[in-house]
Amino acid sequence: MISFLEKVGAGLLISAWLIWGGHFFGDLLVAPRTAGAEKIVFAAPAAAPAASAPAAAPQDFKVLLVAATPEAGAKVFRKCVACHAAEKGAKHKVGPGLWDVVGKMPGKAEGFSYSGAMAKVGKEWTYDTLDTFLKSPKDYAPGNKMTFIGLPDAAERAAAIAYLRTLSDSPKPLP
Ligand code: HEC
Repeated sequence: MISFLEKVGAGLLISAWLIWGGHFFGDLLVAPRTAGAEKIVFAAPAAAPAASAPAAAPQDFKVLLVAATPEAGAKVFRKCVACHAAEKGAKHKVGPGLWDVVGKMPGKAEGFSYSGAMAKVGKEWTYDTLDTFLKSPKDYAPGNKMTFIGLPDAAERAAAIAYLRTLSDSPKPLP
């Protein structure tokens, strides 16, 4: 069986040949290139694997939030829909409806019976507090009853929050 890495390797080899070949025959037809142009050609295939590797460096939350799209967040939100409704005026499920949650105090959705832990958090849901909460719900509000492990991936959290932001008639400005 051909492994993924072998396929990637073969793909790179082929693209390197195509680039090199095109360059070579191009040179036959037009003026000769400088040494500098050669370097650029060989740098291209070498840079390709980096694009498919996951970004390792931790990133600033605001940068991630501004870059995040609500569409990506809607996909992340599939992890939440078993317990949370997103539509205006929707019935609460196991968890409270999340319409207009950004900018609210925790534990304030009408008609939902929160745990004491959630009700006494006492800090408004901002982009930052949502980020901290969603990273590890049980650490943010110990004893709360959201039995969800959290979103360890910072970019996923930022996307989820970018989506939560849109659940409003007048979404709050981005930071
Ligand atoms: C297993 C069910 C469950 C899942 C899955 C879940 N939640 Fe919750 N969530 C709850 C419950 C229950 C509460 C209320 C907690 C309490 O009262 O202690 C809550 C509370 C919240 C609150 C605070 C709401 C308020 O009115 O103060 C937010 C924000 C929230 N969840 C976001 C999310 C997001 C985003 C996801 C998905 C990444 C998610 N939750 C996944 C059950 C869940």
